[in-house]
Amino acid sequence: MEENELIKTGLNNVFTYVAPDGSKRLVTKALVPGRQGGKTIKIGSNEYRIWDPYHSKLAALLIKGASIPLKKDSSVLYLGAANGTTVSHVSDIVSDGLVFAVEFSPRAMKDLIRTSTPRMNLIPILADARDPGSYTNMVTEVDFIYQDVAQREQAEIAIRNTEVFLKKGGYLVLIIKSRSIDSAKNAGEVSCNEVGKLRELFKLDEIIDLEPFHSDHAAVIAQKRT
Ligand SMILES: C[S@@+](CC[C@H](N)C(=O)[O-])C[C@H]1O[C@@H](n2cnc3c(N)ncnc32)[C@H](O)[C@@H]1O
Repeated sequence: MEENELIKTGLNNVFTYVAPDGSKRLVTKALVPGRQGGKTIKIGSNEYRIWDPYHSKLAALLIKGASIPLKKDSSVLYLGAANGTTVSHVSDIVSDGLVFAVEFSPRAMKDLIRTSTPRMNLIPILADARDPGSYTNMVTEVDFIYQDVAQREQAEIAIRNTEVFLKKGGYLVLIIKSRSIDSAKNAGEVSCNEVGKLRELFKLDEIIDLEPFHSDHAAVIAQKRT
């Protein structure tokens, strides 16, 4: 296959792959070729990992046209890393940076450790994101926080972590799962309420509904005030 079947996106190591039948897939260039599960495509001497928007809210955000301020050398605090699906793609993107991946489920952590072992830029941390004080000795100041935890107090968790770890002018991407906050209220109302809590600390860039990839989910992209 030829390199020209890959179209650059604005993000380091993220491409749109155009298959011979014209269908398109989002892919990341593998930081550690041959070492990850999931579908891959070999082009020339490089390996590209298919990034499924139905399994990753960050991939859904990119396909929906969001501008994600992640750079090759960004440092990232990722809250709610689960088994490492999305985290591994973030690690591909910040190839010269660092990803601190916080997860509180010991079961998910087993898979996360397996994902992170060959990746020199990915640091798994077994901790509760509601208590950032419990991992201050393992995490540095970061350029970017990505949060995807199914908890009632989603904005509060983001604020607590921002106060401790996010640089002034750094970015937050907060995934809001409205059903975890209040299943009785309508999703738009719940998201508006959460966004309102961020206004004092952040300048809001975009709020994006993740339909049709993830129902009842929205994403907020916000910049910490300087
Ligand atoms: C929706 S999943 C995350 C999926 C992941 N971001 C991805 O795209 O691959 C939410 C994860 O957050 C974790 N989680 C929920 N509350 C948490 C907390 N307070 N601290 C750390 N992790 C938490 C859950 O165990 C679960 O693995």
